[in-house]
Amino acid sequence: MSPHVWRGILEEYRDRMPVTDATPVVTLREGGTPLIHSEELSERTGCEVHLKFDGANPTGSFKDRGMTVAISKAKEAGAEAVICASTGNTSASAAAYAGKAGMTCGVIVPKGKIALGKLAQALVHGAKVIQIDGNFDQALILCRDLAETYPVELVNSVNPYRIDGQRTGAWEICDQLGRAPDVHVMPVGNAGNITAYWRGYREYSADGRTDVLPVMRGYQAAGAAPLVLGHPVELPQTIATAIRIGNPASWQPAVDAATESGGSIRSVTDREIIAAFRLIARHGVFAEMASAASVAGLLQLHEAGELEPGQIITCVLTGHGLKDPEWAISGAAEPVTIPADRESAARELGLLA
Ligand code: F0G
Repeated sequence: MSPHVWRGILEEYRDRMPVTDATPVVTLREGGTPLIHSEELSERTGCEVHLKFDGANPTGSFKDRGMTVAISKAKEAGAEAVICASTGNTSASAAAYAGKAGMTCGVIVPKGKIALGKLAQALVHGAKVIQIDGNFDQALILCRDLAETYPVELVNSVNPYRIDGQRTGAWEICDQLGRAPDVHVMPVGNAGNITAYWRGYREYSADGRTDVLPVMRGYQAAGAAPLVLGHPVELPQTIATAIRIGNPASWQPAVDAATESGGSIRSVTDREIIAAFRLIARHGVFAEMASAASVAGLLQLHEAGELEPGQIITCVLTGHGLKDPEWAISGAAEPVTIPADRESAARELGLLA
């Protein structure tokens, strides 16, 4: 039997990627993430619902798809240092890939608004972590300024190579389903990912790899919903810290994705996000709060009667729930403590007649 090993998105989709033989491929074998059929959500909605679990990437989020390309191209160009602003996942991913590439990595994050696991990732991978008394939008302005002034490569999604890599999420879904979904639901923060997915679907369609194009449904958190309001939000607020963003860099392409596909960008409340988070967690999938915004959006569409029975739907779960265990535990019941004997355990488990 010949070995079958997933080689990472740059090798698996090499002919569609901006790489040549001269590009040093920096990979942690990202991509190839599971598309999980959700019986629970399918039953609730009368549709065929699949969860694209991008929390299964090497650093636990979809950012790895873009980062393998951005870091490989930075290395090809001779860069020795990279920088990014982040709500946590971009910094975790940039730090890991820069570490793999032997490059220096600086990250600027909003103080106190990063999930602990994400901060730990950036630190263990050796990034220089700087906190600011400000939000993501301010951190991004600062990073853009630094990248223009000093010899350091910006690896936020304003770097086009990030978007190039993140298109592979859409291609994988098409490859896994044998076609594009009818409806594609995803969280929206800085709006790079919805831009990438829409480009990915369109390119596959243009190449005849799918006959259908999905309706794109993007969801922001209600307290951080500039695309819904039509103006930047100065003080974005949400428990879904990953999408706590008030002025998305990819504003226009995100709006275009929604408009061109006949879809929308709407908002879900923190309450809806938590309910969705709990629902999928109960059914075996531990995604982070921001990711649950997609499922919250799906349920909202269903409530509003905007789904047609039998539609094929994908929800992207962008990051792993383990990144923010503190939050998950605080919302759960405290485990009981018992003596280490069979009877006590059986009683507690309700096994005694
Ligand atoms: N979901 C998660 C888990 C994220 O970390 C992000 C963005 C998004 C969704 C939204 O994606 O920005 O492309 O619209 N996180 C960025 C970061 C901002 O710094 O990690 P987007």
